[in-house]
Amino acid sequence: MCGIVGYLGNENAREIIIKGLHRLEYRGYDSAGIALSGEGDGTLHIFKDKGRVAHLEEISGIDFVSHQGIGHTRWATHGVPNQVNSHPHDSEDGRFFIVHNGVIENYKELKNQYLDGRNFKSDTDTEVIAYLIEKFSEKLTVEEAIRKTMSLLEGSYALAIIDRTEKNKMYAAKNKSPLLIGLSDNGIIVGSDVMALVGFSKEYIPLDDHSFVKIEGNTVAIYDIIGKEMQYEVKAIDVDYLNIEKGEYAHFMLKEINEQPSVIRQIIGRYFDGEKVTLNGEVKKAIKESNRLYIIAAGTSMNAGAIGRELFEKMAGIPCEVHIASEFAYNMPLLSKRPLFIFISQSGETADSRAVLVNIKAKGYRSLTITNVKTSTLAREADHFVEIHAGPEIAVASTKAYTAQIAILAILAYTLSDQHINLRKELSKLAISMENVIDKKEYIEELVREKLTKRNCFYIGRGIDYYACLESSLKLKEISYIQTEGFAAGELKHGTIALIEEGTPVIAIISQRKINHNTRSNLQEVKSRGAATIVISTKAVHETTDQIVLDDVYELFSPILTVVPTQLIAYYAALQRGYDIDKPRNLAKSVTVE
Ligand code: F6R
Repeated sequence: MCGIVGYLGNENAREIIIKGLHRLEYRGYDSAGIALSGEGDGTLHIFKDKGRVAHLEEISGIDFVSHQGIGHTRWATHGVPNQVNSHPHDSEDGRFFIVHNGVIENYKELKNQYLDGRNFKSDTDTEVIAYLIEKFSEKLTVEEAIRKTMSLLEGSYALAIIDRTEKNKMYAAKNKSPLLIGLSDNGIIVGSDVMALVGFSKEYIPLDDHSFVKIEGNTVAIYDIIGKEMQYEVKAIDVDYLNIEKGEYAHFMLKEINEQPSVIRQIIGRYFDGEKVTLNGEVKKAIKESNRLYIIAAGTSMNAGAIGRELFEKMAGIPCEVHIASEFAYNMPLLSKRPLFIFISQSGETADSRAVLVNIKAKGYRSLTITNVKTSTLAREADHFVEIHAGPEIAVASTKAYTAQIAILAILAYTLSDQHINLRKELSKLAISMENVIDKKEYIEELVREKLTKRNCFYIGRGIDYYACLESSLKLKEISYIQTEGFAAGELKHGTIALIEEGTPVIAIISQRKINHNTRSNLQEVKSRGAATIVISTKAVHETTDQIVLDDVYELFSPILTVVPTQLIAYYAALQRGYDIDKPRNLAKSVTVE
């Protein structure tokens, strides 16, 4: 993961880099650092420490304006988060400084083969890159030295590199980890994500794998690994700056939960002309031509994928499998004759999913990416892509991207179904019902205070409610650190019920008529063993003692609604425990390492 920013130009490098790092903090936030060129030739000021970008801002004050610098916000892979392991890292002679996002898989071998006897300062894999550039630059030009280093690296990297002796130059390189070059008359900015560029650049260049970038003054040249100049595309940045601010909300997560009804309306606006779906015909054709869909995703996006399978199979009659990306990448099942791979990813950068995409593309299979970030790697590299239009999601815990992903999957499945429902009407109804539950947030906050008093918790449900439970439990555990499991209600009695004791919170989701009684029987079983239960149901199936009763919606779409109170449950459980809701421990939003 990690976020990198580099700047060369006539504006204040420190300000631009710190602002960019704040925006990239979702990618990792256990330490941060910056290197800024000083006033005299060859002087460089380095500030780095364990902790957040806000801390870096405090410790990195300089009383002059620097015009060249690189910065980093870290999610530790190699080496604990401490000052020494923080980036930037320099070469042994202190000439080259680099920031790195990614993992160098062969760094130990490289150390042994090329850098035997050298004095390393940190435990990182990154340092080896700086040392190799230094070593090769003894006999080669700096550009050749960087490209030679790139040719030896196995794994993933996005790099910004400064040569202390060159005040008017900066270098960048990319393989697998994302990296963009932002353009402006006032300088060039390098960043892991378009967010770092917003407000500074109006245009950017997305880099392909194995790109080497030389920035000199205000000019950019891009080469491949053997030094051949590469053509590139310049794209417009159209992220709304206001959308990445918290506004009146205490946390981005609360803002994003609240935005869900308007996201559903936004999706309707984008994909409907009257009652008719206006989906790209090529996407529809690709699904139609396949005889089995393979949904590949991770975490929350995979939980959305599980609902997608139900939608494709039950609405459209198309066989569909859902796979954990990190498993599928290296343990592929037998495939059908004409598979279509559907990648679901909020960020479009998840390394586990990308590993599968690279793999299946090499085998000639077709692919579709469903993502929130149209500039992302998965969007660019798949044959087709559909945007979910959720707007920037900043909180690490995904909320509006999940419900938007399901809405898009519903639209896809619907276009291939007999279209016996009025989809536009059903989605509009959902948006109103989401508002109705968000209006009950104070009540949900009290319920959480009363019932979620233990270190563990269960969500139970059957059928599509079970899949909603998987997402609900992931949300609760990732931000409140309450150990939570999403369980198929009927399966609990086959072992796991042993964990239920006096006061264990068990939350049931019931939105389906045909399993209402079964789930309620399972609730009785845990109640008899002392569980503190909460029932989230819909009007059609509710009982008077149910705590959260939601509007009736089209049953297959119910997770879009039932998940909303569970997002609020997670939010308030974390708030009541005083945790950092938008940046939970050990996590990062864009998981760009495998
Ligand atoms: C949890 C969460 C993660 C992501 C997962 C995949 O709230 O956001 O589980 O869903 O890391 O990320 P994307 O969707 O960007 O591929």
